[in-house]
Amino acid sequence: MKIVHVASELFPYVKTGGLADAVGSLAATLADHGHEVSVFVPGYRAILDHKDAAAAERVLRLNIEMGDVFVTGDVRVFSPRTNLRVYLICREEYFDRRGIYGNGERDYEDNHVRYIFFCKGVIETLRMSEINADIVHSHDWQAALVPLLLRYAERRSGTTLAMKTVFTIHNIAFQGVFPMRSFFRTNLPSEFMSIDGLEYYGQMSYMKAGILFADRVTTVSPRYAKEIQTPEFGCGLDGVVQTRMEDLSGLINGIDPEVWNPVSDQHLPARYSAGNMAGKAVCRTELLKRAELPALNNGPVFGMVCRLTEQKGVQLLIANGDFFVKNDCRLVVLGTGDRRLEKALRDLAASAPGKVCVLARLDEAMSHLVEAGSDFFVMPSLFEPCGLNQMYSQAYGTVPLVSQVGGLADTVTDIAEKPQDGTGISFPATAAGLLRGLERALALYADKKLYAEVQARGMSRDFSWGKAALAYEHLYDSAL
Ligand code: ADP
Ligand code: GLC
Repeated sequence: MKIVHVASELFPYVKTGGLADAVGSLAATLADHGHEVSVFVPGYRAILDHKDAAAAERVLRLNIEMGDVFVTGDVRVFSPRTNLRVYLICREEYFDRRGIYGNGERDYEDNHVRYIFFCKGVIETLRMSEINADIVHSHDWQAALVPLLLRYAERRSGTTLAMKTVFTIHNIAFQGVFPMRSFFRTNLPSEFMSIDGLEYYGQMSYMKAGILFADRVTTVSPRYAKEIQTPEFGCGLDGVVQTRMEDLSGLINGIDPEVWNPVSDQHLPARYSAGNMAGKAVCRTELLKRAELPALNNGPVFGMVCRLTEQKGVQLLIANGDFFVKNDCRLVVLGTGDRRLEKALRDLAASAPGKVCVLARLDEAMSHLVEAGSDFFVMPSLFEPCGLNQMYSQAYGTVPLVSQVGGLADTVTDIAEKPQDGTGISFPATAAGLLRGLERALALYADKKLYAEVQARGMSRDFSWGKAALAYEHLYDSAL
């Protein structure tokens, strides 16, 4: 199949969260399965500075109609792998910036313009090149206009640009909602300004275009596919999602065994496997050393790696600060984001010296060490479309503590519910729920035999993208 992916992030070039991992691994796996895969991403500075992109070839000059003006740009291509081509939609003014979505303080004010240009650049490239896509698969709000712009371009030109379009919701909390006055830059007829189009409470929603106009809509876990049809999780789009119920499915992400594998992980001071766990103890010692926390013999090390946002339940952790002060344990948090949450975490660390360490930075290598060196991984998310770290944790023999939402519920089996094959501990997404989970973790850790069994079960699970990508191939086949 000829498969085109369109997304705003792509591992290993540009990443703010799991979107990058998911798109990078899915595209690479599909390429390895023999499909011809093209991935479109904005030509951000971070990618252009990457060594792989040094050989990128300029293949097209763009002149994009944006309202009543034309805006130029160009398209560059490089191929990091057999069957895989990365297309960069470039325009310095929009994408040659230090940040991706904002300057660290706030989002860029022209994001609505930047991503219309990006989506139109993709359509223009499909029109001018000979990609002849079977599937055009776009991800999240930044690429959500693609299914609609593509069909409209086909209608205008009388040519086919793609057999079928797929849109994946990685997180419905980010919708790309902007004032209606930016609609004119889409150059779409005003019929699409209506409630059956992009209109959303008097504004314009990019994500709505993906949900309404793609042939198939997916999200990243079966449970989240159900949740987003409810007011509690739908973030105002639940009604819109419901209209596509028939074409909606929830497909779990995988993990990339080339990147997340304790047997071969080059970020670790020692490697290990289910058969020989000695290396995990080395990682644990190194983690405590790097976190400047004293060694600990009997109690467990809890780890957490995430964007510091309400979504991740950071406030539930902070509400349980006492637990870490009172008990024989350590907590290492690696995360950046909301300044308020970061400060509250630092206050917690100050109140629990020698017990809690907060590393407020983006650090790929450290995220691997936290996964490998912790005994438990904490994810008390209020909502979680899929979540990757709970899968990484199981692969690394680090028992996950998760709230019962979205992909966390779909990928972690609670040991109390299924004593024979449980791989983690789950709880309601409340401060009291988390406390109960933390207490259960202490008890489990004290039972060395059971703890080792739970570790081994997690490590034997197959979360690889090889398997996860089959579900997408099946979806593409059935759509075609
Ligand atoms: P989300 O996409 O909602 O942030 P996911 O669990 O899908 O959540 O993916 C988060 C990804 O980002 C994981 O690969 C995680 O390790 C990584 N990550 C989050 N925060 C950091 C950080 N401070 N440093 C390094 N990696 C991080
Ligand atoms: C989003 C979600 C996360 C998911 C990731 C990749 O960022 O918040 O749960 O794992 O996308 O699909």
